[in-house]
Amino acid sequence: MSDSAGTPDTRPRMIVDCDPGHDDAVALIVAAHVADVRGIVTVGGNADLERTTHNALVMRDLIGIDAPVHRGCGHPIVAKPHHAPSVHGESGLDGADLPTPVTPLDGTDGVGFIIDTCRAEEGLWLVPTGPLTNIGLALRQAPDIAERIAGVSLMGGGSFGNRSAVAEFNIWADPHAAAIVFETFEHAPGSLVMAGLDVTHRFQVTPERIDATRALPGQLAEILTGLFEFFSGTYLTRHDDGSMRGAALHDPLAVLAVTHPDLFSRRRRHVAVETTGDLTAGMTVIDERKLLERQAPNCDVLTDVDSEAAFDIVLDAIRASDPRIR
Ligand code: RIB
Ligand code: CA
Repeated sequence: MSDSAGTPDTRPRMIVDCDPGHDDAVALIVAAHVADVRGIVTVGGNADLERTTHNALVMRDLIGIDAPVHRGCGHPIVAKPHHAPSVHGESGLDGADLPTPVTPLDGTDGVGFIIDTCRAEEGLWLVPTGPLTNIGLALRQAPDIAERIAGVSLMGGGSFGNRSAVAEFNIWADPHAAAIVFETFEHAPGSLVMAGLDVTHRFQVTPERIDATRALPGQLAEILTGLFEFFSGTYLTRHDDGSMRGAALHDPLAVLAVTHPDLFSRRRRHVAVETTGDLTAGMTVIDERKLLERQAPNCDVLTDVDSEAAFDIVLDAIRASDPRIR
């Protein structure tokens, strides 16, 4: 692909599969700045599919990218749908006056879009930042794409949970889809990267970072300031852990793990997903045994991030995305 001047775009090419969602919105802004976004697919999660799809269209207009938006699945493969209004508000993006989207939806078969695009173009990254329903169904319906993609860099999982003691929301919301994804990478040649809570809780929207966002000129910075204040507000009222100084900005890390891998510490581990346990459904079971008989790794588990450098990229992306301050 080339830009308007004919210069080849050598940035990583990716499809972002998301449930906007405050942190998904930031992931889209960052992806538009540091990657070649070949498409945006929506999934039910933080809010229902209609709302997450609406929010993705709003964000595409605000960012000003011409990537297609395709509506994906609103219902997990087996589990019942669950949403997170206590974290993201009823709209999924509470906290700012958002413009009505003007660019129409490009399609309503997100899974088919993923399959067709991966078959047409080798070496794409799939970057899911919501429940893995679309990705799991795409891999189940078209196993051949596993050999064609560069990998999957997902936000989800961890050695502890947020929706239960052991399950993180994206995995918990559709554990059967997540199990398909992690099992695929027992054998697929591509990379599976997991930005779980262990790393994302280290990347917080602190008051200083909200102030730095507020100091930026332009409409997008003003909107993000409101979104950050809302998102951090719901986080801080729900946590009694003094280490949390703002919302964990989970989803952009799944993008940066692809474009800026040196910002992260990681461990190669075998990870599997529990799908049935009364207490453990949605748990990412990470094999940390020091025994030779441990299972062969299928995943890069991210463990730490250079948060200052990562948030500087977020600020750069906001600056770059607002036409008024380019
Ligand atoms: O558990 C955090 C994840 O769940 C994030 O992706 C957030 O946007 C929600 O989807
Ligand atoms: Ca998300």
